[in-house]
Amino acid sequence: MPVAAAAQKALLAQPVLILIILIVSSCPCVSSLAPSRTHNTSEADRQALLCLRSQFSDPLGALDSWRKESLAFCDWHGVTCSNQGAARVVALRLKSLSLTGQIPPCIADLSFLTTIYMPDNQISGHIPPEIGRLTQLRNLNLGMNSITGMIPDTISSCTHLEVIDMWSNNIEGEIPSNLANCSLLQEIALSHNNLNGTIPPGIGSLPNLKYLLLANNKLVGSIPRSLGSRTSLSMVVLAYNSLTGSIPPILANCSSLRYLDLSQNKLGGVIPSALFNSSSLLSLDLSSNNFIRWSIPSAPLISAPILHVILTNNTIFGGIPAALGNLSSLSSLLVAQNNLQGNIPDSITKIPYLQELDLAYNNLTGTVPPSLYTISTLTYLGLGVNNLFGRIPTTLDTLFQTLKH
Ligand SMILES: *[C@@H]1O[C@H](CO)[C@@H](O)[C@H](O)[C@H]1NC(C)=O
Ligand SMILES: *[C@@H]1O[C@H](CO)[C@@H](O)[C@H](O)[C@H]1NC(C)=O
Ligand SMILES: *[C@@H]1O[C@H](CO)[C@@H](O)[C@H](O)[C@H]1NC(C)=O
Ligand SMILES: *[C@@H]1O[C@H](CO)[C@@H](O)[C@H](O)[C@H]1NC(C)=O
Ligand SMILES: *[C@@H]1O[C@H](CO)[C@@H](O)[C@H](O)[C@H]1NC(C)=O
Ligand SMILES: *[C@@H]1O[C@H](CO)[C@@H](O)[C@H](O)[C@H]1NC(C)=O
Ligand SMILES: *[C@@H]1O[C@H](CO)[C@@H](O)[C@H](O)[C@H]1NC(C)=O
Ligand SMILES: *[C@@H]1O[C@H](CO)[C@@H](O)[C@H](O)[C@H]1NC(C)=O
Repeated sequence: MPVAAAAQKALLAQPVLILIILIVSSCPCVSSLAPSRTHNTSEADRQALLCLRSQFSDPLGALDSWRKESLAFCDWHGVTCSNQGAARVVALRLKSLSLTGQIPPCIADLSFLTTIYMPDNQISGHIPPEIGRLTQLRNLNLGMNSITGMIPDTISSCTHLEVIDMWSNNIEGEIPSNLANCSLLQEIALSHNNLNGTIPPGIGSLPNLKYLLLANNKLVGSIPRSLGSRTSLSMVVLAYNSLTGSIPPILANCSSLRYLDLSQNKLGGVIPSALFNSSSLLSLDLSSNNFIRWSIPSAPLISAPILHVILTNNTIFGGIPAALGNLSSLSSLLVAQNNLQGNIPDSITKIPYLQELDLAYNNLTGTVPPSLYTISTLTYLGLGVNNLFGRIPTTLDTLFQTLKH
């Protein structure tokens, strides 16, 4: 029986005893006993914290409670201890405290650590390879700092790792391929760094991966062919790299994918039609690549939930598929700066909640369907630099007041 439940039972039976328990537990003398307990069981943790403290400068005084003479380190700001057994540090949560300095190897002496959560500071230097000794580590979050150097290979010893979030640092070198050995990984967030090399193929097969965020790096090579083979995958953001090749068919067919942003790369080929027949995809941004063709299944899922389709600045030729009109949730359709030819299909005007439609800088011909001007939800309409003609309806005067150009 849990202690609390036992105490509650005892309380019902023995009101006087309960009163005593309450008095004892609120007695200040108890807290003076606690330090000797922690001192005994976890002096190594206390020393590790003091070592960590000595490496950081702390302009806001956030670590003032981290004092040599203070034995109750579980009460130090940002420190969380395990609540069973000996007091051991399980989490460090030091977000947005303007800490500067480097992470010392002695952090690895906190051998029960599951969470390092220190985003939005000015931590610099390399990640010490000793981090691999933290085999209980589940969450490593050092995002928005100034960390340099490479991600140490030893990271793969962190077999419990679920989240590695180090976005917006100056990390360089390659993504360690043995990161793929961390089979519990759910989130890899390394956007806005200087990572180079390829995306390790094993990453695509991580069984629990939900978020793969690698935008704004210098990654080359192709998107792992296995990416999307796991139904956990929800968000893939690889924008602003130099990736080549095409979109892996498995990724296009992935039944859990909600956000796919591959913009500003060197990807090409045909945009897989499966992307427009997905029961999960909400947002697709493939802008500024070299895609040459798109096709939309003529009988796509009736309830495709897709909201945003952004294909601006590719070299897509051919006509605008009439079946686009079947994407009834569509809010933005941005296909400017391509080589689209032919007419604007009337079906587009049937999309019920369309807000942004950009067809500018293409090679469209024919008449602008008059009903285009009567889509009441529209807030942006780009038609410029095509070979279109048609009468601008007189009602457009009022419409223009709501259009942003
Ligand atoms: C710490 O406590 C344990 C029992 O919990 C005991 O065996 C050990 O000797 C103590 N260590 C010190 C340094 O007092
Ligand atoms: C990747 O970056 C590292 C460190 O900056 C460099 O040593 C290496 O040559 C680069 N590799 C490639 C393929 O550019
Ligand atoms: C990672 O997995 C590969 C096989 O996929 C294995 O050869 C390698 O030894 C593993 N590395 C570690 C550090 O476990
Ligand atoms: C993707 O789905 C399409 C049908 O939408 C199917 O023809 C194709 O074989 C699938 N590809 C893969 C790799 O599963
Ligand atoms: C258009 O795409 C090319 C590469 O395909 C890129 O260099 C250029 O910056 C993009 N233009 C804009 C406005 O994003
Ligand atoms: C679209 O998806 C539905 C449901 O998954 C499937 O039955 C249909 O064959 C797909 N159509 C095409 C053209 O891929
Ligand atoms: C999809 O669009 C095509 C072309 O506009 C149309 O013929 C077809 O009936 C539509 N399918 C569904 C399921 O709405
Ligand atoms: C525009 O399309 C016409 C055919 O409709 C073609 O002859 C012409 O070369 C195209 N222009 C450009 C700039 O692609």
